[in-house]
Amino acid sequence: MDIQRLKPSREHDAPLYLQLYRRYRDAIATGKLHPGDRVSSVRSLASALNLARGTVEMAYQMLTSEGYFLARGPAGTIVSPRLGNLGEPGHATVSRLLSPAPSRLQAEAGQVRPFQLGLPALDAFPRKTWARLAGHNLRVLDAAAMSYPDPVGYEPLRRAIAAYLGISRGIACTHEQVFVTAGYRGALELVCRTLLRAGDAGWYEDPGYIFARQFLTRAGMRLEPVPVDEEGLNVDIGQQRAAEARFAVVTPTHQSPMGVALSLPRRLQLLEWASHRQAWIIEDDYDSEFRYHGRPLPALKSLDRDERVLYTGTFSKVLFPGLRLAYLVVPEPQIERFTDSANYLCGPGSILPQATVADFMEQGHFARHVRRMRSLYAARRGYLVDALVQAFGSCLHVQPQAGGIHVLAHLNTRCKDKVLAEAAQSHGLAVEALSQWRMRRSPQGGLLMGFAGFITNEQAVESVQSLSAVLTEC
Ligand SMILES: Cc1ncc(COP(=O)(O)O)c(C=O)c1O
Repeated sequence: MDIQRLKPSREHDAPLYLQLYRRYRDAIATGKLHPGDRVSSVRSLASALNLARGTVEMAYQMLTSEGYFLARGPAGTIVSPRLGNLGEPGHATVSRLLSPAPSRLQAEAGQVRPFQLGLPALDAFPRKTWARLAGHNLRVLDAAAMSYPDPVGYEPLRRAIAAYLGISRGIACTHEQVFVTAGYRGALELVCRTLLRAGDAGWYEDPGYIFARQFLTRAGMRLEPVPVDEEGLNVDIGQQRAAEARFAVVTPTHQSPMGVALSLPRRLQLLEWASHRQAWIIEDDYDSEFRYHGRPLPALKSLDRDERVLYTGTFSKVLFPGLRLAYLVVPEPQIERFTDSANYLCGPGSILPQATVADFMEQGHFARHVRRMRSLYAARRGYLVDALVQAFGSCLHVQPQAGGIHVLAHLNTRCKDKVLAEAAQSHGLAVEALSQWRMRRSPQGGLLMGFAGFITNEQAVESVQSLSAVLTEC
């Protein structure tokens, strides 16, 4: 391939590394580069295209972490050979994965503790628009809306979600496949009651989202920790430890809490395992809307040819968690079973908030909010990272992440992350220890910090200074 075709344009709005990353992805998707092809070294590409080495390095790092490239040390970097083997027909699968153009959502927040995880920027929520839509829904509430709500969710909202997922996440589904639930846990409950039985074994990312882990354990599931590395859930290890598992819970777009994306070869491998074993994959796509480098990979569900993926999304990050609204998309052949279970569960509750979210989505406020929040979060992330670098210098390393609303930082210290986090918490700082998100012990600790609540640079600097003082005492 003529490498001059990869040359980014300085006139383009997107940063040079991002343009380079996209050109490589397009070259792979369109078959100009094949699995196993050698790619130029960072040094020679930088020199041929007259780019800084850091620019090329950044693009290569993203391509490697998403599974397009395989770095082989001194033997050089190649296009991942696994792109060819696993997804017959290879190129069709790759192009499918790359094609959809996601649109974005947003969220908002109030007064919260510094570094609070899991909360969106409540200060930026468009309250006026929300109040207008909610007020309208209250006024026009008819008899149908005042009677018992549909346990599978309010139909206009189900339709709005199906349309949104088609455009933004590459998921082709009908509204009948969409079940509105009371938060992510409501979606998990529906899955457990419909497809699983107490005692069933399931793969769980290690480290992984604590609350879902606790919920599933209490529901009687036997969770097998499967380690996460720079390509996401390690499917090989899952197969070695519990090939016969009935389900796997994954956060493929933005692993919680490590922030890596499940690479394309691993996605295909996971789907293949599930089809072969007739296992279920629960895809938790909790914050895919917030991505700062390029577009997120389409959902794993978009590749689900054998109908093994149960897709979940939530309004907690893009709107606000107090809404308690999430959704589950089930495979078409499972609609009847899920509808039957939903009839005996509590469902998502009142129609009023559901109708307001439906209007918010249909009238374009949702997409606008997401776009606005993406740039807001990129700025707020910058406030926190700059403040951390300034306060801790080389004693601290912030793990690069393409999206999300938290950062993971590794501190160069012998002190346990749990001790540091507890000290911070006792001073009102909501920092969390990575080790607490783990199921098995690991020497690798880290500190998890939310940044969505830092409205100004000064707030971030002040909070990081307090954190630095606490950690120094430790
Ligand atoms: C990994 C992960 N999954 C799902 C959710 C959504 O949970 P819920 O819809 O119950 O707010 C969150 C919220 O913080 C999360 O961090």
